[in-house]
Amino acid sequence: MLAMNKFKILGAAVITVTVSLFVTSCKDKRSTGWEYAPNMYEHIAYDPDQKNPNFKDGKTAQLPPKGTTPVGFVRFDYPNGNEGYEKASAEVKNMMAITDKNLADGKALFITFCAPCHGAEGQGDGEVTKHGFPPPPSYSKGNSSRGGAMKDLTDGKIYHTITYGVNAMGSYASQLNPDERWKVVMYVHHLQTL
Ligand code: HEC
Repeated sequence: MLAMNKFKILGAAVITVTVSLFVTSCKDKRSTGWEYAPNMYEHIAYDPDQKNPNFKDGKTAQLPPKGTTPVGFVRFDYPNGNEGYEKASAEVKNMMAITDKNLADGKALFITFCAPCHGAEGQGDGEVTKHGFPPPPSYSKGNSSRGGAMKDLTDGKIYHTITYGVNAMGSYASQLNPDERWKVVMYVHHLQTL
């Protein structure tokens, strides 16, 4: 009796597998077959890349309105180039308190991001200059390629330089957020006095 049952179960299993293979193999190869809970695939909400008749341009992903500022984003409306550099120099001031903590943070960031070229003391003798990289001018004794002595560089000029870079120096905007940039500016002012 038990043996009979075993065969029956085995037989039913073989038939089930054969039938399901038959049913699925005959379908269009690109089809996903029968979908379980199709609402998960065909939902009501629009996908970002989907056409959308509710908007004028027919797209779902819309640009934010002009002038939108993301939460927590700090504007710096001084374009790259000499004009923005001079304008930032005249208008932008460091609003961050000069404290031991902020200076220490600025020093740590400077050592990490700037000292490889500018040197720990800002004398333009960082490690890479010993391997052929053009040495930057000393903050205290050199002259800026954009005119004037390095020791007279203003808040705005240093902040603008960190944000955009200049010539062989790249932008540090993606490594340093605005607060961190101001801490570094603070520390560069200290190096200008050495
Ligand atoms: C890859 C090397 C390199 C790194 C890293 C680097 N700089 Fe420079 N920096 C230079 C060079 C080279 C110059 C001179 C560019 C020129 O005027 O042609 C320069 C110039 C400057 C100037 C003078 C700008 C002016 O108006 O003349 C400032 C200020 C400055 N760097 C700040 C920084 C700070 C702050 C950091 C770190 C966040 C940094 N730099 C990281 C290479 C570097």
